[in-house]
Amino acid sequence: MSTTPATPVMSQDELKALVGRAALDYVEPGQIIGVGTGSTVNCFIDALAGMRERIAGAVSSSEASTQRLRAHGIPVFDANDVGDLAVYIDGADEIDPRGYMIKGGGAALTREKIVAAQARRFVCIADQSKWVGTLGRFPLPVEVIPMATQRLIRQFAALGAQARVRLRDGAPLVTDNGQHILDVTGLQISDPPAFESMVNDWPGVVTVGVFAHQRAHVCLLGTPEGVRTITF
Ligand code: 5RP
Repeated sequence: MSTTPATPVMSQDELKALVGRAALDYVEPGQIIGVGTGSTVNCFIDALAGMRERIAGAVSSSEASTQRLRAHGIPVFDANDVGDLAVYIDGADEIDPRGYMIKGGGAALTREKIVAAQARRFVCIADQSKWVGTLGRFPLPVEVIPMATQRLIRQFAALGAQARVRLRDGAPLVTDNGQHILDVTGLQISDPPAFESMVNDWPGVVTVGVFAHQRAHVCLLGTPEGVRTITF
């Protein structure tokens, strides 16, 4: 026997589109918007195109988002040419009940953290699969200087974790900044601010994908019942 749900089940892509559109509520006319990276952000960028005449433009966190913004006719500014941003809108690989996140599944974590730091408010857009009690189920991305790779793998092993170089087409993936990514499994990150500070201090680490110091202020979580707004 099968049961028909009261509301049609929404796919993950539909939930991403839902929160991408919902994020428009956080965009004020005349603003320059901080824009993240990833498939959820792509939905936001496509929605933002509908109001491109009313915004001044964007600061982008990756070459991929820059291309998509420009394809929609949205001006993209260098981060150095603008002051503080009112809002930064980005996805996450995991987000916890304190607004701490793991990010970097799209390898854009360093520029994402830079643009997030420039913004007064971080609005995270995510489907409900990203909501976790404790960070660490998703392999933690860490952008590293290639000559430090093997030592950093050993440093993570000393914590009981396994770090692997992210590959693309059989070779180490090269980020927009010309560096490599380690993906680290076997972590349970119970104190994200302390963990972020510790790993960021290791020589050769460019950026660790724990966003605790640049945590979310608001999460728009896509659920089958609609968008849940969580403030931290
Ligand atoms: C890219 C990121 C993304 O925000 C994160 O990987 C989520 O991506 P998606 O929206 O495609 O699930 O941190 O570096």
